[in-house]
Amino acid sequence: MFNGQKVSFSGIQPSGNLTIGNYLGALKNFSSYSEQYKCFYCVVDSHAITVRQVPAELRRRTYETLALYMAAGLDPEKNTLYVQSHVHEHAELAWILNCFTMFGELSRMTQFKDKSAKHADNINAGLFTYPVLMASDILLYQTDVVPVGVDQKQHVELCRDIAERVNQIYPDMFTIPEPIISTTGRKIMSLADPMKKMSKSDENTNAVVYILDDKDTIIRKFKRAVTDSDMEIRYAEGKDGINNLINIYACFTGKSNEEIEREFAGKGYGDFKMAVGEVCADALAPVQARFNEILDDKTALEVQMKKGAEEASYVARRTLSKLQKKLGFVQVR
Ligand code: TRP
Repeated sequence: MFNGQKVSFSGIQPSGNLTIGNYLGALKNFSSYSEQYKCFYCVVDSHAITVRQVPAELRRRTYETLALYMAAGLDPEKNTLYVQSHVHEHAELAWILNCFTMFGELSRMTQFKDKSAKHADNINAGLFTYPVLMASDILLYQTDVVPVGVDQKQHVELCRDIAERVNQIYPDMFTIPEPIISTTGRKIMSLADPMKKMSKSDENTNAVVYILDDKDTIIRKFKRAVTDSDMEIRYAEGKDGINNLINIYACFTGKSNEEIEREFAGKGYGDFKMAVGEVCADALAPVQARFNEILDDKTALEVQMKKGAEEASYVARRTLSKLQKKLGFVQVR
């Protein structure tokens, strides 16, 4: 709780260009949360360095990710928007929580297994304890709800286990958070392989529509989307490509699958792909315009970052020092 309001916390890695999957599954819904919750949105640069980053790109993407949050409609007056490394309490709490997390628990994390297979030459300890830093992000703000993609559910569950373990020893230390798994947009699939989630780290950029793609690129990508040899635009088993396009169209227009099937009855795949591209590009255009405006004024963006970090530290400091006191750390302030 924060001033009588429930707390929502979410983080986005600045490690790749954000996709329409990120937009529909997360960013687009975030602005409606601020009515109901005190919201913290964090650009998690410390998480990003668990895999090697090019410094100039990490820096650029950190600015861009924050700008995108704002461009997608998050008002920095109502929400706390900040960068993880600006609030050192995240790293400090992570160390403490490392001592309350079991080796076996971390070994079971599917993302760790996936990432260590993918980066076999760099299975560093940070990659292994990544979920502990994420738990620290969440628990520092006495978070009630965590909006995440389904791939992060296991990490939030681990966070709950850690919090409960700490609470058993030090009662009432942490609020136990609940994940909120968004249902819209959580199944935006790759345009090249509709059995696979659309991922910002996909090497095939034609499979992925980025929030910042221009209209021509968006339309070209949808035109090339893999479909099937059937001719009908209908949502059905085995039609993964078309199902994905219907879902994307539904997310952007708010129409139901049945309405879409009716709208495109008798039309060809080409027309439908064009229409999906159009609604997507039109929906993203105002976000892109705001994004460019925000990014144009770096100084103003840095002022926002600083303000966000100050707000966040104020809350984070209270949680951290409460725990330090319970642990027996000497406090001389
Ligand atoms: N691990 C998340 C992801 O890759 C990002 C993240 C870091 C996060 N800390 C968080 C998400 C805290 C929610 C809450 O998507």
